[in-house]
Amino acid sequence: MNVKDALYVSTEPWSVSDPFYQRSYAYQANGRELFYNLIHLSAHRGVLPVAYQFVKSHLKLSKTHFYPPRRALDNADPLAVFAESPRPSLSDSIDFPACIEQVTPLLQTAPRWLDHVSTVATGENEIAMGLFTISEHLNKSVLTAPVQHWVIASKDYSQHPGRVSAVFDLAAVQLALAQFPRTFLPEILGFTLAYCQQPSVLDLLTAGLGDKSHQDLRDPLLIETAAIRAGQVSALQGLIKRYETDAQAAEYGATWPRIQQGYALYEQLTERCVKAISERWGRPQTDEQLIEALFKKLASSARGHHGQALLGGKKLDHWFAEQPFNSREFMAALTASSYVNLQAIERSPLFALFEFKGPMFGVLNNEDLGLLKRWLEAGGRPSAMRPHSIQTVVGSIAREPQELCRQAINFETLSNRDLFYYLVNSECYPEVVDSVTGRVTKVLRLARWLNKVPFKVYKHDRLDQFIATIYQRGITGYQAFKAPARVSKATYVWGIEQLAPTILADGCWLQGVSQLQFSPYQAVGDLLQKIYSDEMGNGDVLKNHPCIYRRLLASLNIELPLVHTRAFSAHCGFLNSAFDIPVFLTALSLCGNRFLPELLGVNLAIELSGLGQQYMTLRDELKYWQIDSAIVDVHIAIDNVATGHTALAREAIALYLDQVQMIQGSEVMNQHWRRVYQGYSALNTAGARFKAALVLQYLKKRF
Ligand SMILES: [Fe+2]
Ligand SMILES: [Fe+2]
Repeated sequence: MNVKDALYVSTEPWSVSDPFYQRSYAYQANGRELFYNLIHLSAHRGVLPVAYQFVKSHLKLSKTHFYPPRRALDNADPLAVFAESPRPSLSDSIDFPACIEQVTPLLQTAPRWLDHVSTVATGENEIAMGLFTISEHLNKSVLTAPVQHWVIASKDYSQHPGRVSAVFDLAAVQLALAQFPRTFLPEILGFTLAYCQQPSVLDLLTAGLGDKSHQDLRDPLLIETAAIRAGQVSALQGLIKRYETDAQAAEYGATWPRIQQGYALYEQLTERCVKAISERWGRPQTDEQLIEALFKKLASSARGHHGQALLGGKKLDHWFAEQPFNSREFMAALTASSYVNLQAIERSPLFALFEFKGPMFGVLNNEDLGLLKRWLEAGGRPSAMRPHSIQTVVGSIAREPQELCRQAINFETLSNRDLFYYLVNSECYPEVVDSVTGRVTKVLRLARWLNKVPFKVYKHDRLDQFIATIYQRGITGYQAFKAPARVSKATYVWGIEQLAPTILADGCWLQGVSQLQFSPYQAVGDLLQKIYSDEMGNGDVLKNHPCIYRRLLASLNIELPLVHTRAFSAHCGFLNSAFDIPVFLTALSLCGNRFLPELLGVNLAIELSGLGQQYMTLRDELKYWQIDSAIVDVHIAIDNVATGHTALAREAIALYLDQVQMIQGSEVMNQHWRRVYQGYSALNTAGARFKAALVLQYLKKRF
């Protein structure tokens, strides 16, 4: 397959419409902010241009001495052994848990940059599938940090001054790359190779621990993780060589410099993290920095509580209302005020406020009060020079104007056929995502209106019974095949072509589930990811469902353009309604976690629909006409109720509703069950027009 097909290098530079670009002005271009906003991407899609420019700027800054030599593509061993890498010298108080604490954002975001390598657009691409397989291996090897994923999702986590900015820069790059898998493919290939070949930040820090006691204190898990990374090197080298050859054949010129830049990006940011962490440990935070952080934290909730009280001639409420809060001036004004008695700090009126029955009792704990006293006793004034900023210079990158803003497109008015192209290429048209919520909601509303929930009070055994009934109903009508087939071969061939937009996008409803990794529903996401991986044949093009379907089409001499091209959605052989289901499913996958219960219902409906007498009869008839029935066979087997996709779909619903009940109670759980069922019914609703059109055309054409 030609590189141009889906993972083409010409997508650079990435562009968006002007209104979308203007939304990005609300976001700051530094690692801490970006890290937070990318974890909460569904609510902050406007941050994407910032994420793109953040990666670009860091790529530009990457130094050539980090560029890998050509032998990086041939040497199976890691290029840098520990002896060659700079080892930080760490104080005795630093131990393994301290290292883990500092690098948690990196552990939790690796190898997230490969999360969207496999999508509808790239589902048939062998390089994408190769990377998908590598990402599955790397995901298994991730060292589990003792911090739950969703803890890092809080704003406080990324703003904490105790954590170094350089770590958030690298973590933000790891998350940002995930949003541009086609745009930055050469860089991602290089970045991943460096990740597999080079020691990680944690490897380098813990090597410093080993130095101290002249023995290797590294955790066995860490050693195992490094081994699994190294185990992916040769597969990755093979992919890169193939990509380069394909790119050359397509006359895209040399891709190696971009691969090198991606490699250097990882190495440079890794080195910077190690340096920043060891410096940070070598220079503990001063009381002044801790006080500054404390006042900043208090300021947001202090506003409106201080009436006419003044500090430095300014109302206290005005101090706290300022954005951003000017902690340095506030600290100077406080020290100079009558609240503080510098001769006898203990007797300062300030401390009376925090005493029992004082207006600020309970606002500060004993540790905070001790810190405040210590700081005032040392003079209390902020030093003129800011000794330690929580933002690195490089971490705060000035944004450049977007050179190539595109014209805005009115997605709301597009037909499903026309919209399909933009949904499949949403990486290049991120604005389309804003328009899909309305389209998804319309189908869901109609489904709710047309279908009555089978039971209102959710119980696990009721769900089991519901699935068993549907399954039995489907299976009982099956009769052993008796020739001839009910419909002609020509009808089947025509029907297979009509189903191409749906089945060539098989699995698309789950293409965004990796976003659940940063939510409390991470375990639900893991179950859905298992299904998604199977739909992609676990990266094997022989087992991948879209590829199986492409081979079926080829065997019937049906030549269709690739799914991500305009020519595909413009193909005049398709009924317009052939795009109804894939548009609904792809749109749903792009809505983030907003429709999670509905997605769980849709997922169950899809998996259950692959079973039953309809499919079994279809298999018999295809065989009768000597049409390859692999796509039907694979679904009958893999979607099975006992251990297959239907079982996983049921488990995901049960787990999700258990979690909802635990946090929000039974009433809310029942509401969410209704939403799950709404999603379940929506598959039929979304496909109703297509089904009717198929019947109508069949009657008209009489093949
Ligand atoms: Fe499938
Ligand atoms: Fe399935």
